[in-house]
Amino acid sequence: MANEPRILSVANAKGGVGKSVVTIMLATALAKELGKKILILDCDSQGSITDMYETEKEILGEGHEPLVEVEEITPRKVNTFLRRFGGDYDFIFIDIPRMTDKKKDNSTVMLLYNCDSILVPIVGNEVDVLSSFDFLSVLEEASNDKQDMDETLRYFGFINRRNQRKSNEEAEQAMKKEGMKMFTNSLSDLKIFTSPSFFSSILDTKEGERRFSPFYMEFKKKFKLK
Ligand SMILES: Nc1ncnc2c1ncn2[C@@H]1O[C@H](COP(=O)(O)OP(=O)(O)OP(=O)(O)O)[C@@H](O)[C@H]1O
Ligand SMILES: [Mg+2]
Repeated sequence: MANEPRILSVANAKGGVGKSVVTIMLATALAKELGKKILILDCDSQGSITDMYETEKEILGEGHEPLVEVEEITPRKVNTFLRRFGGDYDFIFIDIPRMTDKKKDNSTVMLLYNCDSILVPIVGNEVDVLSSFDFLSVLEEASNDKQDMDETLRYFGFINRRNQRKSNEEAEQAMKKEGMKMFTNSLSDLKIFTSPSFFSSILDTKEGERRFSPFYMEFKKKFKLK
């Protein structure tokens, strides 16, 4: 293999918490700032990342180069794909679908094992936090299994859409108490975060830089991305 890629995922058992949009923002920011070759593997059969990408490509028309590549793939094919093509990339983000059946959702859980780094978006309300507890136990198990094989799985949580919910502080405390290491920085609920571009970095605009940069810096630091 030419290169041992870093494999990351923004994941949670819960749907609609910002997994896909945060994946796009982090991947494009890293591609632009660090000049890395980055792929997003869209494993969600609902294919929202692929849809967003195709839509933007169509709107922009010919002659535009995306900052990252996007590949739609079924979870079962990921291992083979990574073996064959992983070395072509510096960073690979896997968009892992929500888990409908928690621990029993095996092909989804297995995707976590491909990763060295997982970032867990948490939107603060009671139901979301409870399902994040379940997800944390899945992560702990994956991390222990990987340790047995001399591999590392690093994971951290962060509060997404901070200004939308009153219960954010409680959610954060509850996650910490349960053993989740949490980012100091969170992401606000903002229009600029709702449909990020594949062709430019969120850090290219003044507002994007101001609102995303602290979180992004912490992301690079905590996951040791250079
Ligand atoms: N920080 C934010 N500010 C504003 N809107 C946000 C933010 N985070 C997520 N959203 C919006 O919330 C919705 C869900 O986000 P997204 O599709 O990324 O979630 P997901 O976890 O990938 O969901 P799914 O499980 O359906 O794949 C989208 O409409 C997105 O634009
Ligand atoms: Mg998604």
